[in-house]
Amino acid sequence: MITNTELEYKGNLYPNTIVDFYRDTDKLYFTTSNGVILEITILRDSIIRFRYATENIFEPDFSYAISEDVSLGYNELEVNETPTEYLVETAKLRLLVDKKTMRTQISDLDGKIINEDELGFHWEENYEHGGNTVKMSKITQSAESFYGMGDKATHSNLKGKRVSNWVTDQYAYGKDQDPLYKAIPFFIGLHNNKSYGIFFDNSFRTYFDFAHERRNITSFWADGGEMNYYFIYGPQMDQVVKSYTNLTGTPELPPMWAMGYHQSKWSYYPESNVREIAANFRKLRIPCDALYLDIDYMDGFRCFTWDKSRFPDPKKMISDLEDDGFKTVVMIDPGIKIDKDYWVYQEAVENDYFCKRADGPYMKGKVWPGECNFPDFTNPQVREWWAELYKEMMSETGVHAVWNDMNEPAVMEVPTKTAPLDTRHDYDGHPCSHRKAHNIYGMQMVRATYDGIKKYVYPKRPFVITRAAFAGTQRFASTWTGDNVATWEHLWIANVQAQRMCMSGYSFVGSDIGGFAEQPNGELFARWIQLGVFHPFCRVHSSGDHGDQEPWSFDNEVTDIVRKFIEIRYQLLPYLYTMFYRYSKDGIPMLKSLVHYDQEDHQTHFRTDEFIFGEQILICPVQEPNAQGRRMYIPRGTWYNYWTDEVVSGGMEKWVVASLDKIPFFVKEGAIIPKYPIQQYVGELDIEELQLDVYYKNGVETSTVYEDAQDGYDYKKGRYSLRNFNFKGKEKELVINQFKDGSFITSYKTFRLNFHGLPFKMKKIQVDNETVDLKDVKLNGSNNIQISKDFTVLHIIGA
Ligand code: NOJ
Repeated sequence: MITNTELEYKGNLYPNTIVDFYRDTDKLYFTTSNGVILEITILRDSIIRFRYATENIFEPDFSYAISEDVSLGYNELEVNETPTEYLVETAKLRLLVDKKTMRTQISDLDGKIINEDELGFHWEENYEHGGNTVKMSKITQSAESFYGMGDKATHSNLKGKRVSNWVTDQYAYGKDQDPLYKAIPFFIGLHNNKSYGIFFDNSFRTYFDFAHERRNITSFWADGGEMNYYFIYGPQMDQVVKSYTNLTGTPELPPMWAMGYHQSKWSYYPESNVREIAANFRKLRIPCDALYLDIDYMDGFRCFTWDKSRFPDPKKMISDLEDDGFKTVVMIDPGIKIDKDYWVYQEAVENDYFCKRADGPYMKGKVWPGECNFPDFTNPQVREWWAELYKEMMSETGVHAVWNDMNEPAVMEVPTKTAPLDTRHDYDGHPCSHRKAHNIYGMQMVRATYDGIKKYVYPKRPFVITRAAFAGTQRFASTWTGDNVATWEHLWIANVQAQRMCMSGYSFVGSDIGGFAEQPNGELFARWIQLGVFHPFCRVHSSGDHGDQEPWSFDNEVTDIVRKFIEIRYQLLPYLYTMFYRYSKDGIPMLKSLVHYDQEDHQTHFRTDEFIFGEQILICPVQEPNAQGRRMYIPRGTWYNYWTDEVVSGGMEKWVVASLDKIPFFVKEGAIIPKYPIQQYVGELDIEELQLDVYYKNGVETSTVYEDAQDGYDYKKGRYSLRNFNFKGKEKELVINQFKDGSFITSYKTFRLNFHGLPFKMKKIQVDNETVDLKDVKLNGSNNIQISKDFTVLHIIGA
């Protein structure tokens, strides 16, 4: 019998003995006698890049994923040699390269192995396409768990699974179906309380096997390109995710309205229907910031055109909606209808902007308008042209934002669902076939869209949405999880996908709330809204070929529940906006799975449902019908039940009551949660007072509130307001210190502090060391005071 290991060896080529080594500042080069070169780059103390060439030649070093803004720098690098190995040491890691096999091993400075090659790098020559299938295999460490990998609709811990990355239009996908719409070849390993990440920066179809085929082996490989990966050390998962996110980039702050509630359907038309939907939101007092136009606003599905019978005066409609607080978001697809009388088509043909097949003809595929050609977005000139196409739509017609769909690219009526693999691409001056460009095609489309929108909504901020994505696409666009289904299982999937995307550097994410395909009942819709308002991108969308899916499409009870939860989202806007600021600036994911929140607690390693919204709120959706509550794991620490203020201690599973109008919702003790009054849309009200919900703790905790003009770029000139609150509670007193930064002046002058769980009655209040009369702070009840937003120290002494 042939063992797996022997199979692996079959047809594979391996590096042999290292015969040469040299160092060029932060790069180390090892060469074997059979022409393999290993290039090791020390990017930082804890980030090492590995690149392997065969036949002594590297490909040009080019990546769409790595952000241009990434900050690099290492402190220390020492290389030593023994008869059998090279030893490289940074301030955090020790790396060993075996002279005989070129295998590597990475350990921390205490000698604990973090990651080690099994067979290490090996490859198979690809006779059909040229180049190599490049492979890497690693030893799975004892009790190792695996996370990350983008939008995989499977249990958060990937141990025992094999997945692949090939962006795919996967209508009505199911649990465990793979691949889906995103290709994010990044995973996180965790063992012995130490966490690391591996980002395989290769845009070909990639595969990851997490101890699935062989019990103790983790491997990854690609259909072409180079073995080129980044090893990122934690040891905290938080650090791994931040470093990966920093490498591949974060988005700038979107306008705050993009974090409001959005309503979509395939499709709202004609104009009267759109106006009716808008009016209903206002009539029923359900907050909403954006309405979406799906493909049917176009003239025969031609991008950048309007169907004038359905939308006779889009400019007027958009401006009226804007007066009522609604932004209009329109869809743009990559497929350009083959129509000699259509200006976009003509321009593309004249300038040779469409993708071609290997032997010269245009690549052709059917999408909504019938036969289409597809711009080659990997050509910088094409991207510039595409960006300009948005000019009229944005600056003349007044469209606020754009969603790019079908950009895998999706092609109908062919088994592969996409472009033929021999399709040629420019790949920014590195011509290649679709095998290499497929996974980044949608990313480059939305990048061009982003550039155009950014230019033409200026001085406002752009907001763009994409369906397909590769690692790094988060720099340009928010995203949704594609064509899900109105089932309870899909509620579970949406939760896992959003958490997983956040761990994979992509925080601005949400699902089609209520499900895209099929019809949810009121209960499922209500439960899904309860989860959706805690996702960074919050939009209801549905295929529209069954019943309606607006907040009022079910019974009154459901409408009231939906309103209540959207209102909570609007109250939490300053908290959410601060989350985004932290994500944008420091790469801190907006949602954290429990394992990310507390990796030392082994109970968290296999949890999927609970997550931390921002840094201080714990949420766990109800994912079953007829539930009056659910069992959930409360992570270590002390938490307040949001609904009852009951205090619970974590580190165990608990039954939590949650009737249909509630979701299990907890706030970390010591947290200070900022809240706005309920608005029907962002900017409706001048905020007259900022509510701060203070959750008492006998101990310390820090909270942050970031604010700015909610749109525009003044914040980049220092016009923001960043407040850090240090809370310190004792048995009979508490102190809050405020540290302020930035020159933005908020519209409100006061805070309304709302104390939860205060174990004493307020006897004396000092603001900046001066005692104030309890009347002056408008003591409302026993736990609610108003003070100036400019305070530095608030000291409350209890009776
Ligand atoms: C597929 C998208 O995933 C969906 O959201 C959209 O409604 C349809 N295309 C029609 O444009």
